[in-house]
Amino acid sequence: MKCNPITGFFGAEVTGLDLRKKIDTSVKKQLQNALSEHLVIVIREQWLDADQQRALAKIFGEPAVNPYAPGLPAYPEMTHIIKEAKERTGVFGGGWHTDLSFLDHPPRGSVLCAIEVPPFGGDTMFSSQHAAWDTLPEPFKIMLDGRKIAHVGKPYGVKWAPPIEEQSMKGSTKRGDPEADRERWHPAVLTHPVTGKKGLYINPTYALRIEGMSEEMSRPFLEELFRHTSLPEHCLRLRWSPGMVVIWDNYATQHYAINDYHGFRREMRRVAFKSGRLEEWSN
Ligand SMILES: [Fe+2]
Repeated sequence: MKCNPITGFFGAEVTGLDLRKKIDTSVKKQLQNALSEHLVIVIREQWLDADQQRALAKIFGEPAVNPYAPGLPAYPEMTHIIKEAKERTGVFGGGWHTDLSFLDHPPRGSVLCAIEVPPFGGDTMFSSQHAAWDTLPEPFKIMLDGRKIAHVGKPYGVKWAPPIEEQSMKGSTKRGDPEADRERWHPAVLTHPVTGKKGLYINPTYALRIEGMSEEMSRPFLEELFRHTSLPEHCLRLRWSPGMVVIWDNYATQHYAINDYHGFRREMRRVAFKSGRLEEWSN
């Protein structure tokens, strides 16, 4: 297999693979290394079925059921993310976030397969939390290193949750859970256990406040961090094609589903995986 970088900071397209065949130990190791190094890996024309997708996820960790969007009983860890052509409302993942960072144990990463994509639009943006850390002004680094950030599941819980009729997100089945709004404290800065690279672990969908500060005091600092993380230089914009597989590191990236394809159907199938614990990424 070959890895071709997509941007100067992160992301790689992997070629020379057929993931429908049994994946041997050497390829598994290469894929794990590629994810550690590039954080987002893209493999075209794979057309995986659910079992093949599950086998691919298992290379990186145990498949994890999304408590807010479980799949069908045979494949509880498979979340179908569908937006129908007639839907005019929001889209699943339509804001910068890392998946489920408001849980005690957020998933380590995800494998997303494109089933049906619109003829244009429906891209996914990714941003590198490593790039954001590397380019962060020193005063911010001093302020955040060793501190914690409170995460709350506002789209899932009661805080700021949009009305249910505006939640046209078929990938999700459970909303309005007050438990999701309980503050979970995670380190603001994580260190990748394989590469030793540092990255921010802060996202605008779920990060509420900085340790030792109120929400109000935290807001201007967080706003500046969100602006910095989403600078174009720290981002990758992915154009989907049917059959494409994308694997991302959920502890070192954010993503954003662009909702610009009204009138067209889009269907994706996602499996998240867990691997170790977030605390292992702490300094
Ligand atoms: Fe997401």
